[in-house]
Amino acid sequence: MKRVFVYPFRDELEGTIYCPRDKSLSHRAAFIGALSKGETIITGFSFCRDCLATLSCIKALGPEVFPFPEEEKVVIRSEGLSGLREPKDVLNAENSGTTIRLMAGIASGIEGLTILTGDESLRRRPMRRVIEPLKKAGVEIGGRDGDRFPPLFIRGRGKISPLYHVLEVPSAQVKSALIFAALWGEGKSVIVEPLPSRDHTENMLRYVGVTLHREEKSIVVEPSQKLKALPFHLPGDMSSAAFLMSLALCLPRAHLVIKDVGLNPTRTGFLVCLERMGGKYRILSRWETFGEPRGDIEVEASELSATSIGPEEVPLLIDEIPILSILAARARGTTTISGAGELRVKESDRLQAVARGLTALGVKVEEKEDGLIIHGPSAFRRGVVQSFGDHRIAMSFVVAGLLSEEGIVVEDVDCVDVSYPTFFSDLKKLGIPGMVFEES
Ligand code: S3P
Repeated sequence: MKRVFVYPFRDELEGTIYCPRDKSLSHRAAFIGALSKGETIITGFSFCRDCLATLSCIKALGPEVFPFPEEEKVVIRSEGLSGLREPKDVLNAENSGTTIRLMAGIASGIEGLTILTGDESLRRRPMRRVIEPLKKAGVEIGGRDGDRFPPLFIRGRGKISPLYHVLEVPSAQVKSALIFAALWGEGKSVIVEPLPSRDHTENMLRYVGVTLHREEKSIVVEPSQKLKALPFHLPGDMSSAAFLMSLALCLPRAHLVIKDVGLNPTRTGFLVCLERMGGKYRILSRWETFGEPRGDIEVEASELSATSIGPEEVPLLIDEIPILSILAARARGTTTISGAGELRVKESDRLQAVARGLTALGVKVEEKEDGLIIHGPSAFRRGVVQSFGDHRIAMSFVVAGLLSEEGIVVEDVDCVDVSYPTFFSDLKKLGIPGMVFEES
């Protein structure tokens, strides 16, 4: 494991940069490639650890996968949905919740046995939310500890009964698992989503020719689907851009342009929140591919004020809450985050990890069952912060360290590779020196 000593950065930040390609879209493009008959060319693919786990699961089902990391490109050759085969070994989703849950949906359709596991963190994450609806659709599926956790086993029959399910927690992972399973449906499936979550799966499946539509809060998937192998060119990841943007917003002198970031409205809750906080940003240009908007974002140093984030907004900025908490600590006033209990079952208990980290840096923060109350503006004093092996916690506190008075230590930062392998080199590219790494 590696720890990093982060020293305060006080110079001007000025630059233009591409952040990593979108992780959510990369998972989905790869899965859709495996489900489509023919050759799918994906450019702008994220070669982060999570997406590599998805590629290795897909390969085990039969499709040929050709990765070209230098070109951020992957080519997938598949026989299509009906050509997927029972894997010969246990599949490992490593740290990736998206991989294991979406795979559970796909494995439900494949004839034969699939066993899915993951690393220590993934084996603590809730799985009943995907197991129960799939069981209702006649899939033989189960998990450890009374269906609560991975490993999961799935014995598919090559078809599933029509699904009807109302999501209990807003979760794009669960929704997507069920949509994928519904492609093998013997009739029309309906998934009801009380609060909207990211809708990439819906957009991308429509693009490859799947008949799927929305009726108010329901997503309706028609049976016997054929997917066309079409190319995908993926944008940058808003959830990664958020770290660079936050740094620029909090520095006294900064002007940063992040090129080609995904701007799907179900992913831009972070920008909406910034607007309320007085964060100065502009979308410089905007275009669209496969139903997904994208554009360049310009951001500059800003005076931030506190805000309040409630349950209906949480799914639209779920992964940005740790970095928003750093911004909240710098903002004038008290920020309240509520309805965010889901953060307790992410790669780490993110509410606890953020509360402990901010406390270690001298910020006044109250941890609630489903949220946080953060009192700003606060300086970040010298301290040691644990990442709990969680990439978004590690990167949030590296940003805090750059804004700190005297520097901080962030423990266990290897995990940044899970979503943003070039995080430290991108900071260097932007002219930010002063990071010292040490084996711990
Ligand atoms: C993701 C959905 C979110 C998010 C995760 C990626 C996805 O999880 O936190 O990082 O790609 O669908 P939930 O949908 O479970 O909230």
